[in-house]
Amino acid sequence: MNAFASTGTATDRPAPWPTYVGDLLLREPTAADLEPVLAFRNDPAVNRFMVRTQVTADELRREWAAIPHSDTDWSCLVEREGDVVAMGFLDVVDAAGQPGHPAGTDGVIGYVVRPDAAGQGIGSATASALLRAAFEVLGLRRVTARANADNLGSARVLEKAGMRRERYAVQALWQHELGWLDEVEYALLDHEWPQASGARAL
Ligand SMILES: CC(C)(COP(=O)(O)OP(=O)(O)OC[C@H]1O[C@@H](n2cnc3c(N)ncnc32)[C@H](O)[C@@H]1OP(=O)(O)O)[C@@H](O)C(=O)NCCC(=O)NCCS
Repeated sequence: MNAFASTGTATDRPAPWPTYVGDLLLREPTAADLEPVLAFRNDPAVNRFMVRTQVTADELRREWAAIPHSDTDWSCLVEREGDVVAMGFLDVVDAAGQPGHPAGTDGVIGYVVRPDAAGQGIGSATASALLRAAFEVLGLRRVTARANADNLGSARVLEKAGMRRERYAVQALWQHELGWLDEVEYALLDHEWPQASGARAL
């Protein structure tokens, strides 16, 4: 049982995790994961590509404790042979300020692979698993993902997952240490998922 879930979980909560993708286990984080995750989450090779560059143990603990009670945060960790090798992010988001906008239909995904585990297909497997969770478990309509425009690895991961590049935005993203950056955005609709999931190994 998730150590953070001891005060009760949200009722009728769908359960995308745990799930296996090959030898990767995607599961909810627990308190025991804080130390190994922080060891790579704040690595300069990682946070160069993250909007939030540094994350503290307290912030992670607070965020993870809220996950079992949340209808919008479906973050997970990716484990291989007992070691955490990646983080996955899946948030349900709603457009702001549009009258009558349906609620809870759209999602945003993201991921961080432990640098010494990069280049082994973990990012691609994680992105596909997040899309599968979004469309097949949560029933979302549209999922997007954003990356720094110079993050060629992340762009390739999203393309391999079958997502469509929809936007190149010039100096659109503020990053605390690097300033204004160009950003790319990818998207996929629910009716496109069956074909994308079949094509993800290409
Ligand atoms: C970018 C990142 C997610 C890639 O994960 P990964 O597990 O190494 O990716 P995969 O092994 O699944 O590789 C997927 C593809 O991307 C390519 N790729 C990976 N890193 C790359 C890089 N730095 N430059 C160019 N291509 C790269 C691989 O060659 C592969 O393509 P191919 O199958 O056509 O050869 C990972 O390096 C990472 O987490 N980086 C730091 C944090 C980050 O950028 N997060 C995403 C924020 S949007």
